Amino acid sequence: MNFRFLPILMAALVWPSAEETPALEDGLAVTFKLAAGGAADHTVRPHFMLYVSAGEAPSPFIAPGPFTAEWEGVIHLDLRDRFIFQAELNGSLKLELNGNPVMEVSGTGGMTDPTKRIRLNSRSNTLKATFTSPEKGDAFFRLYWSTPDYGNEPIPPKYLKHMPNEALAERVSLRRGRQLAAEHRCFKCHATNAPGSGMPELAMDAPAFEGVGSRRGVDWMADWVLNPKKLRPSAKMPAMLHGSAAEADARAIAAYLGSLKSGQPIRSVPVDAGGISAGHALYKQLNCAACHTLEKEPVAPGKMALGQAQRKFSQAGALSAFLQNPQAHYKWIRMPNFALAEKEANALAAFLFSKSTPTKAGSPASDASRIAAGKKLVSSTGCLNCHSMKLENSFSVAAISDLAKGCLADSPSGSSLRFGFAEEERLALRLFMKKGRASLGQASLAEFALRQTADSNCRNCHGQMESVPPFEVLGGKLKPGWAEKLLLGTLGERPRPWLHARMPAFPARASGLAKGLALLNGHSPVTPQEPPVDPEKAKVGRKLVSANGGFFCFSCHAIGSLKPAQVFDAQGINLAKVGDRLLPEYFRRWMRNPLRVDPQTKMPAYFNQGQSALFDVLDGDAELQIESLYHYILQGNAMNPPEVPGT
Ligand code: HEC
Ligand code: HEC
Ligand code: HEC
Ligand code: HEC
Ligand code: HEC
Repeated sequence: MNFRFLPILMAALVWPSAEETPALEDGLAVTFKLAAGGAADHTVRPHFMLYVSAGEAPSPFIAPGPFTAEWEGVIHLDLRDRFIFQAELNGSLKLELNGNPVMEVSGTGGMTDPTKRIRLNSRSNTLKATFTSPEKGDAFFRLYWSTPDYGNEPIPPKYLKHMPNEALAERVSLRRGRQLAAEHRCFKCHATNAPGSGMPELAMDAPAFEGVGSRRGVDWMADWVLNPKKLRPSAKMPAMLHGSAAEADARAIAAYLGSLKSGQPIRSVPVDAGGISAGHALYKQLNCAACHTLEKEPVAPGKMALGQAQRKFSQAGALSAFLQNPQAHYKWIRMPNFALAEKEANALAAFLFSKSTPTKAGSPASDASRIAAGKKLVSSTGCLNCHSMKLENSFSVAAISDLAKGCLADSPSGSSLRFGFAEEERLALRLFMKKGRASLGQASLAEFALRQTADSNCRNCHGQMESVPPFEVLGGKLKPGWAEKLLLGTLGERPRPWLHARMPAFPARASGLAKGLALLNGHSPVTPQEPPVDPEKAKVGRKLVSANGGFFCFSCHAIGSLKPAQVFDAQGINLAKVGDRLLPEYFRRWMRNPLRVDPQTKMPAYFNQGQSALFDVLDGDAELQIESLYHYILQGNAMNPPEVPGT
C-alpha cells in the first residue's frame, strides 16, 4: 500500500456527499466591502439591521469609509404567509427574495414606502439585502415585515438561517483569535502596534495584589498559581511555573501573597443554620445557578463550580466582602454585582461555606525566607505584566518571530507559559497574530456586545426566568442611555421592584454593552432626542389610560404616585418610568400587539388590525391613540395621573 495516498483516501471518507449539504446555521451571513476596494470581511449577524456611526467602520477588519454590506440568508417559516416589507434607513437598500427584486430604495433617515404583500413559502426562502452607506451622516437600516395582525416588526431571528461556507469559517476563526488574544492579555507581554484605544477588552485588568493576603487563602493561591485551568476551566491566567521546582515555587509565591495584608480587619460572619437557609433562598431567587454550580469540581461547561469557596476565601467574612463588591479589586471580573446588602451577602457566604470543602489542615508555615523567595518570583516571573502592585517588575520578553513556538507551541516546553489552548484555539490565535492585529485599534461595539453577552450568560436568565424580558428584544427596546445606567448599577431603583430576581450590574462592560446592543439592532448608540410633548395629545393619552372612558391601564401599572388598582400576577412598570426607557419605535410595536413581542406577557392587546375598541376617541384610530399615549408617557414624573372613579 502506498501511504502517500492515505490522506487523499481519508479526505474522500469524510467529505460530505452531494446529497449531504451542510446544515443551515442560525443568523445571517454578512459581507462588508469598502467602496474604495480591498479585501472583503465576512461575519454572521442575528438579523437584518445595521448602524454605523459616521467615521466608524462597519467591521473591525475594515477601515472606516464608504461601504456596502450584503446580507444573505434563508427565511425558514413553518407556514406560508404573505408579508409587507418596509425599511427605515439612511443609505440605500436593495432587497431580493427568491432571486426576484422586491425593494430598491434610498432614504435619509425616514421610513420607505411599504412593498405590496409578498408571498413567502413555508420552509425556505432566500433573502438577500444589499445596503450602501449614505454620503453623509450615520449609516443605518432596519428592515421590518408586517401582516395585518401585527404592524411592522423586525423579522424574528428564530426564522433566520444561513449556509456556512469556507470564507465565513476563516473569518469566524480570525474573530475567535482576536477575542482569545485580548482576553488572555497577550499584549501585556507582547506589545502591539495598535493605538491605545480600540477593542474594549484590551483594557482588561487582573486582580490587584495589594492586600490580597487578607482576602484569599494561601493554600488555594498555591494551587491556583500552579495550574489555574485545573481549578477553573475558564481561567484566562496561564500556568507560569514549570519543572521540578514548580510546586515549591507556587508555595513560595502563595506565602508571599499571603503576607500582603490589607490592614482592614475581616468581619466575622457566623456560618449557622439561619444564615445557611436564608443564603440558600437567595441563591435560588437571584438565580446564581445561571452561571454557577455548587460542585467541588467543574462539571457543566460555562458554569463555575463554587465548591472551592471555603479554600479560596478562608473566612466567611472575606467571601461576604467579595459578594458585596466583586469589582473592588478587579474591575473586569466576570462576576456581576448584585448590589447585595451586607446581611444578604453574609447569608450567601454562610450558605456557600456550608457547601464547600474546608481548608486543608497542617499546611507548612510561611517563614521569612520562603516569603522572600516568593517575592523574588513575583517580580521576575511576569506576574506583574498583568497584576498591579507597587513592586519592581524585572521580567521582559523578546519580540515574537515564530508563531508555532512559545505560548503557541503545540506542546509547550521549557520556560513557556501554558494557557491550555485547544488546537482550534491555537490555529485561531496564529491566524489572528499573522493577519488581524490592526483590528485591535477598532472598538466595533456591536461585536463587543455579541461576545460579551455570550460570555456573560445573559440568556441563562433572560428567556429562562419568569417575568424577566426575553433576551432578543432588549437591544431594540431600550434607550441606550437608560440601559447603560442599568448595566452600570447606577439606576438607583429597580424597574420591577416586585420581582425577587434582580438584574446584576456589569460595570466594566456597561457602556460597550448598552451601545453595542443598540447598534446591533440598527439603533444609534446615543439616546435619540424626543420631540417636545404635545399637550393636546398628552391630554387624550391621559383619558386613554383612565378608568372613565379609557383602557384602565392603572389596573396593572402604577402611574406616577397612583398605585396599580388590581395587579394579581400581571404588574407592569410604572408608566411614569417608561418614557425614559423605551425607544419610540418599540413603544408602538408593543402597544400594537404585546403578545407578538413577548408571548409570555400578561398585558392584553387593545388594538386589532389598526382599530381600537374605543371608537369615540380619535375615531378609533389605533395609530393616533398610540401616539397620544406616547405623548402622555413622555412627560415622565411630570405626568398628571388620571382621576380615580369614586374619589
Ligand atoms: C506573561 C507574559 C506573556 C504573556 C501574557 C504571553 N506571552 Fe507569549 N511569550 C512570553 C515569553 C516569556 C515567551 C518566550 C518563551 C519561550 O522562549 O518559550 C513567549 C513566547 C511566545 C511566542 C513564541 C515567540 C518566538 O518567536 O519564539 C508566541 C508565538 C507567543 N508567545 C504568543 C503569545 C500569545 C498568542 C499570547 C496570548 C494568548 C501570549 N504569548 C501571552 C510571555 C508571554
Ligand atoms: C452572569 C454570571 C454570574 C452570575 C449570575 C453569578 N456569578 Fe458568581 N461568578 C461569575 C464568574 C464568571 C466568576 C469568576 C470571576 C472571575 O474571576 O472573573 C464568579 C465568581 C464567583 C465567586 C468566586 C468563586 C471563585 O472561585 O472565584 C463566588 C463566591 C460567586 N461568584 C458567587 C455568586 C453568587 C452567590 C451569585 C448569586 C448571587 C453569583 N455568583 C452569580 C459569574 C456569575
Ligand atoms: C496574562 C496575565 C496574567 C499573568 C501573567 C498572571 N496572572 Fe494571575 N490572574 C490573571 C487573571 C485574568 C486572573 C483572574 C482569573 C482568571 O480569569 O484567570 C488572575 C488571578 C490570579 C489570582 C487569584 C486572585 C483573586 O483575587 O482571585 C492569583 C493569586 C494570581 N492570579 C496570581 C498570579 C501570579 C502569582 C502570577 C505570576 C506567577 C500571575 N498571577 C500571573 C492574569 C494573569
Ligand atoms: C442573574 C440573572 C440575570 C443575568 C445573568 C442577566 N440579567 Fe438582565 N435582568 C435580570 C432581571 C431579573 C431583570 C429585571 C430587573 C428589573 O426590572 O427590576 C433584568 C433586566 C435587564 C434589562 C432591562 C430590561 C427591561 O425591560 O427593563 C436589560 C437591558 C438587561 N437585563 C440586560 C442584560 C444583559 C445585557 C445581560 C448580560 C450581560 C443580563 N441582562 C444578564 C436578570 C439577569
Ligand atoms: C392586565 C394588566 C395590564 C394592563 C391592564 C395594562 N398593562 Fe401594560 N403591561 C403589563 C405587563 C405585565 C407588562 C410587561 C411588564 C414587564 O416587562 O415586566 C406591561 C408592559 C407595558 C409597557 C412596556 C413597559 C416597559 O417599560 O417595558 C407599556 C408601554 C405598557 N405596558 C403600557 C400599557 C398601557 C398604555 C396600558 C393601557 C392602554 C396598559 N399597559 C395596560 C400589564 C398590563
